[in-house]
Amino acid sequence: MCGIVGAIAEKNIVPVLLDGLFCLEYRGYDSAGLVITNNGLQRLRTAGRVAELEKKVVEQKTNGFAGIAHTRWATHGEPSERNAHPHLSSAESKIAVVHNGIIENHEIMRKRLQVEGFRFDSDTDTEVIAHLIAFNLRKSDGLLRAVSLAISELQGAYAIAVMEENHPERIIVARNGAPLLLGLGEQGNYAASDASALLKTTRSMIYLEDGDIAELYKDRYAIFECRNGDLSQEIKRPVHHSDLTSDAIDMGPYAHFMQKEIFEQPSAVANTLEMVLNAQAILPGLFGSAAERIFSQTKGLLILACGTSYHAGLVARYWLETIAGLPCTVEIASEYRYRNPIADAHTLVVGISQSGETADTLAAMSYAKALGHLHSLAICNVAESALIRQTDLRFLTRAGPEIGVASTKAFTTQLASLLLLTIVLAKMRNKLSSEKETAVIAALRHLPAALQSTLQIEPEVQEWAQRFSEKRHALFLGRGVHYPIAMEGALKLKEISYIHAEAYASGELKHGPLALVDREMPVVAIAPNDQLLSKLKSNLQEVHARGGELYVFADADTQIEESNQLHVIRLAEHAGILSPILHTLPLQLLAYHVALVKGTDVDKPRNLAKAVTVE
Ligand code: M6R
Repeated sequence: MCGIVGAIAEKNIVPVLLDGLFCLEYRGYDSAGLVITNNGLQRLRTAGRVAELEKKVVEQKTNGFAGIAHTRWATHGEPSERNAHPHLSSAESKIAVVHNGIIENHEIMRKRLQVEGFRFDSDTDTEVIAHLIAFNLRKSDGLLRAVSLAISELQGAYAIAVMEENHPERIIVARNGAPLLLGLGEQGNYAASDASALLKTTRSMIYLEDGDIAELYKDRYAIFECRNGDLSQEIKRPVHHSDLTSDAIDMGPYAHFMQKEIFEQPSAVANTLEMVLNAQAILPGLFGSAAERIFSQTKGLLILACGTSYHAGLVARYWLETIAGLPCTVEIASEYRYRNPIADAHTLVVGISQSGETADTLAAMSYAKALGHLHSLAICNVAESALIRQTDLRFLTRAGPEIGVASTKAFTTQLASLLLLTIVLAKMRNKLSSEKETAVIAALRHLPAALQSTLQIEPEVQEWAQRFSEKRHALFLGRGVHYPIAMEGALKLKEISYIHAEAYASGELKHGPLALVDREMPVVAIAPNDQLLSKLKSNLQEVHARGGELYVFADADTQIEESNQLHVIRLAEHAGILSPILHTLPLQLLAYHVALVKGTDVDKPRNLAKAVTVE
């Protein structure tokens, strides 16, 4: 994970570095640091947040025309100032490095460099890179060559930015397996882990490819390909104009990004569905120009994802099987990539990811391709992400930037997109009549309004949150297509309130977890008025009869009544196939309000980061 910013310009670049780090804190926030050139390399580092670094910058009146900066999510070495980036190496010329990724062969390299006389001041894998560059600088004709030789020895994933004290007029950056882009300004050039970090400075961006290495000067830049230490001639990469607005990453009137993002869901879903809301039919072309051809050959689906995106895949499996009659497997990407699954050429591989940079999802997608799956589709929220660039077909969820670590609007927009996919595939397989399609389009048209009215239950959820905040554990129950929604609710609660929460398919209760039920274990149940309602009611009775305290989110017409130890919040009438989307919102609100009562850091929960770019 971690976020990187680099800047070299005709003006003081420290504000650019700090603004960039604030935007990148979603990638990690254990410690922060920067190096700028001002009569030599000057380094400032802090444990904790970027705000702490900013205080130091103000106290020390730090300024300079070139610099690199970093916000960290600790992998090797505890979160501390000593392990904060940039890391330095002082041989003939002082080198500073910031790094996002993991160097897998760092232990061997560390021993080798120690034998060469390099002293290590941190526990990080990154310090190896700094010393390795310094070592190679001794035997090469400049920093560019030294960096290319050094990275040829690195195994693992990295995006790095490097400065050299003796040549402060230049920054070198390189990437392999971790995101990095260049920002081109009129009075300077920049680099960052993602576009949001540079929006206040420039919108002209170049997305570097794996194996690229670039030199940045204040008035020019050059990109090369680096293979096994050899540098190519200078190459060109396309310049993109980023459409992201910096307003989209402002909190506005909300107390937290998570709250803002929960309440943005009606518009995020409407934006995602824009192309179909006024249409008469849902067409394959939504997924790309080759979609019709590829879908006509599709015999099944393999969905690969992590975390919340994995839960979206689990919901989609019910839809794909029931509506489109297609077999569907959903796999946790980090598991799939290390198994020996049997591939089928005409099973479409679907990668779901908010960020499009999740290392396990990207690796699992590549693995599926290598195993023989012919076609792939990305459902993703970031247009310029690695996932979008590596698949044959793509559907962009238009949720807008999601900053809170807990995923909310990304999930509901993923569900909306997956329902469109289901409808397209169902139609192509003659499993859906045009009347039914018209009914689905009408339901989708109503969805933003239905989401808006579901959000009205917030005050009732707030009351429950007070009681929940005193608990240490919670169970979440759901059945059928709502079981993954229970999983998502449990993930939200544990992620931001640190209350241990587990989800069960409610039929599983009596096979073990019922033993946990007592007054100290709140049981949250999702109770839509669907064909499994009577079964769910029996499961609720099993909890009630054993003194458990039930918190039920029930459709209005379920006839589940409040009683002692059975609390009910009512949603609208049953929303048909859209029900899982609507039932997600109360669980997000519950997690949010419990976290508020507990006083945790809602947007930046401990130990986590937004984009999980390491495995
Ligand atoms: O960017 P992605 O959707 O690939 O991220 C996957 C997970 O890391 C992510 O959904 C994570 O589980 C969320 N923090 C959950 O709220």
